[in-house]
Amino acid sequence: MNEFEDIKALEEEAKKLIESAKESSELDAIDTKFLGRKGELTLQLRKIGSLEPEKRKDFGAAVNAAKNMLAGQLADFKRRFAEKEKELRLKKETLDVTVPGRFYVPGTPHVLMETFDDIKKIFIGLGYEIFDSPEVEEYKYNFAALNYPEEHPAIDEQMSFYIDKEHLLRTHTTAYQHRVMLGRKPPMKVCTTGKCYRVDAVDATHGHTFHQVDCFAIDKGITFSDLKGTLLHFAKSMLGQHVETRFRPDFFPFVEPGAEVAVTCTICGGKGCNVCKGSGWLELGGAGMIHPNILRGAGIDPEVYSGFAFGFGIERIHMLLHNVNDLRMFMDNDLRFLRQR
Ligand code: PHE
Repeated sequence: MNEFEDIKALEEEAKKLIESAKESSELDAIDTKFLGRKGELTLQLRKIGSLEPEKRKDFGAAVNAAKNMLAGQLADFKRRFAEKEKELRLKKETLDVTVPGRFYVPGTPHVLMETFDDIKKIFIGLGYEIFDSPEVEEYKYNFAALNYPEEHPAIDEQMSFYIDKEHLLRTHTTAYQHRVMLGRKPPMKVCTTGKCYRVDAVDATHGHTFHQVDCFAIDKGITFSDLKGTLLHFAKSMLGQHVETRFRPDFFPFVEPGAEVAVTCTICGGKGCNVCKGSGWLELGGAGMIHPNILRGAGIDPEVYSGFAFGFGIERIHMLLHNVNDLRMFMDNDLRFLRQR
């Protein structure tokens, strides 16, 4: 074989490879193999020095012609491949706009949240600060700082969920009182809402988990009539202008005097029905004047300052507003109920 035939053979080999290539990356490899800096055709040029001088010109021209030819063919194939590949890609990326979309059910706040918000709005309107407070509470805040005698039944493990000796799931939102009092000086008007837990057999009106709103106010000269006025305003704003309040003596270790607070039955308007068991009144929760021991314990002089406090069940209020007759609905996760919001 003479050197011209070598070139032809390389050219043929390259052509065959180009024709059998299936994707552009193969063309790139062929390009490097024959035309690259160390490609087989490029290397042919090195032979020139060893040829007889009269052959050199023709040989150089033949190598270059072969290189140009191949380069042209490669470029041509590359263009065709690029077009084909683009076509395929576009086909793959086609959107079928008639395919039905996926149906996502958006989450919504729990039904009780509306009542939470309405309650908070009323107290914000009265100048109360809203606080968050922990559900896992220290024994001392839940009971000791609230003047509970050591033998009080609520302290018993049978009545409350203990985490360890010093911690329990708070039994009432009143547990936040001492925390707030320690951190600030009167005057103060504060409010918190949240979950509470008690060991209780579950039925339509009892649950182990429920929600409360707790507020208190401390200033010079606060009296029981401030408490009554505040709660009358709250009851009317929340349940309707026709609603009246009723206070009856009750006992809580952290208030003196203490009261049970009721409102006229929103179902029968006070005439008596099965919801209010014929009494015409519905209990909302407890209230009273903050016990001097509590103020003293927080470094507030009960000779100078006085305050009131109250705590209500939120489910109770929601049930009255929306005619829900079973407390279990709030925790059961029945979507037919929860979607009513
Ligand atoms: N913490 C009491 C309860 O859970 C309610 C209450 C709060 C009573 C504040 C008086 C003052 O029943």
